[in-house]
Amino acid sequence: MILEVKDLKKHYPVKKSYKETKMVKALDGVSFSVAKQKTLGIVGESGCGKSTLAKSLMALEERSGGQINYEGSDMHSLNSKEFKSAIQMIFQDPYSSLNPRKKAWQLISEPLLINTDLSKKECFDRSVELMTKVGLRPEMAERYPHMFSGGQRQRLGIARALALHPKILICDEPVSALDVSIQAQVLNLLMELQDELGLTYLFISHDLHVVNHISDEILVMYLGKIVEYGTREKVFDQSLHPYTKALIASSPSVDSKGDKGPPISGELPSPLNPPTGCAFHKRCPIATQRCSEVEPLLEEKNGRMVACLEV
Ligand SMILES: Nc1ncnc2c1ncn2[C@@H]1O[C@H](COP(=O)(O)OP(=O)(O)OP(=O)(O)O)[C@@H](O)[C@H]1O
Ligand SMILES: [Mg+2]
Repeated sequence: MILEVKDLKKHYPVKKSYKETKMVKALDGVSFSVAKQKTLGIVGESGCGKSTLAKSLMALEERSGGQINYEGSDMHSLNSKEFKSAIQMIFQDPYSSLNPRKKAWQLISEPLLINTDLSKKECFDRSVELMTKVGLRPEMAERYPHMFSGGQRQRLGIARALALHPKILICDEPVSALDVSIQAQVLNLLMELQDELGLTYLFISHDLHVVNHISDEILVMYLGKIVEYGTREKVFDQSLHPYTKALIASSPSVDSKGDKGPPISGELPSPLNPPTGCAFHKRCPIATQRCSEVEPLLEEKNGRMVACLEV
């Protein structure tokens, strides 16, 4: 396993009043592992903790507990240079993560200038090479981010993330802001790059159909916890958890040309005040009295991990 995460926690203190501070358990005991060159898809509604997971892995947020191992040893014992060539991230909105005053080649060169001994000329050449790899033309090297389309900008973000040859790429909603037709192109590019460069992906999306397209394994999160986790076939084709089923039913299907199904009934409960028992019980079509009292553990059932008392 290239990445092993054990019991990862991230709790944010939130002030309720001047004397009362509550904890938002944005991540509450998340464990998983990813094999080299595989893709783990991470799904869940807005606010379930997907970006917190990404940021904790990238050390952009200090974890509250748990262990992250990269190739068998603690990831955060790597020095900054080792860390950057182990794991990189691409974001939903490449525009806000790219300095508008820098040209494409300068943006891609930034990590190279900081972390390598390459000369400016070598950085330029390497940037152009990376641009070609992600499907951008060499003459675009002199353009500024606003001169690129949304899809091209995401390609630029990918080129920049790849500059230091990372082994793992975390993609946080990389295609959510793009038109459906462009989404497919960027997903295909990511899959080609995975084969060519032997990359391992953590692919975050609220859209299970997109995740299904690209993932080997899928992890479904609800309110900071894993509710279902296993191979794509088990989690998508033979889902057990009522939340996974509701997510699949509500996300736009490929055949229906982007039409959404019925939304999941009810709202995500406040993480400041999570329900007793199973966090999903108030929205669940098969919940019983026991579900409001007993918290389900993540257990193996029918070849995947699932946290539900009723399946
Ligand atoms: N800095 C912070 N301080 C307090 N609470 C936070 C902070 N960052 C995130 N949270 C809370 O943690 C929970 C998880 O947020 P997170 O951004 O990880 O969700 P997400 O699954 O990425 O959602 P989205 O799909 O909207 O991107 C939310 O309840 C959020 O309000
Ligand atoms: Mg997010």
